[in-house]
Amino acid sequence: MTDDPTTYKHKDQEGVADRPLERKAVIRIRDVRKSFGDNHVLNGFDMDLYEGENLVVMGKSGSGKSVMIKCLVGLMLPDSGYIEVMGKEIATLDRHTLDELRSDIGFLFQGSALYDSMTVRENLEFPLRRHKEKLGTPSDTTALVMEALENVGLGRTIDLMPAELSGGMKRRIALARTLILKPKIILYDEPTSGLDPITAKEIIELMRNIQIKYNTSSLIITHDVDCARVIADRMVLLVDGINYAEGSYTELSQSTDPKVEAFFKK
Ligand SMILES: Nc1ncnc2c1ncn2[C@@H]1O[C@H](COP(=O)(O)OP(=O)(O)OP(=O)(O)O)[C@@H](O)[C@H]1O
Ligand SMILES: [Mg+2]
Repeated sequence: MTDDPTTYKHKDQEGVADRPLERKAVIRIRDVRKSFGDNHVLNGFDMDLYEGENLVVMGKSGSGKSVMIKCLVGLMLPDSGYIEVMGKEIATLDRHTLDELRSDIGFLFQGSALYDSMTVRENLEFPLRRHKEKLGTPSDTTALVMEALENVGLGRTIDLMPAELSGGMKRRIALARTLILKPKIILYDEPTSGLDPITAKEIIELMRNIQIKYNTSSLIITHDVDCARVIADRMVLLVDGINYAEGSYTELSQSTDPKVEAFFKK
């Protein structure tokens, strides 16, 4: 019966059913280019972020990682190319729609970027005020602030000033401030830079827990190979302005391409 074409067809269909469902991309970047004068930073960069995954983007200092992330959230305009976030093309959005979309995107900036003159509570209330529809009554606000702080294990710091916190604590508070809007996507720009290895590990652990608890899709920009190993479901290496290599940590770390190997040498 194996010659029966209907049998073949059946097998084929089985094959399709066995494959995992097509993954939904929450971010799609196609052929993005960005130059500053003669400095051609992005030269046709492509990337997808799939729902629920932790995608790590690595690239050496100055390779354009922060530029890419800024283009993603509309803080910077690419010269050309296509960027779509949750089905919306960034370049076509008016200010209001872009702002709305941004409330679903958490952005942990490089460094903590807390407001030094505000208490921890005020720092966390800040994004709620910007997105008033999520603010609710004052008691709702306190509950949201406490929930976000407890997610990062720092419920007791609510009335402290940033100057009273350690570097690792500030990073956690910044993460709590990102989480307070319950973003669907979190963009982390160098979440572990400047932290000692133990604190860095704690931050990575928190990022993993948050991903599991809220099923967020995360884009993590890092130099930190250990961070990538622990957290990456998938990795993209940004070299010469393009997505030079993609794959799992294991795949990429075994590559014999010199430009890829360079990332994994200690
Ligand atoms: N606003 C700007 N005006 C001019 N040049 C810029 C601007 N922003 C970034 N650049 C340049 O673009 C290049 C990429 O910068 P970017 O900040 O994206 O690097 P990066 O990969 O994030 O590096 P790092 O790992 O050090 O954070 C650099 O050469 C930088 O000087
Ligand atoms: Mg950067």
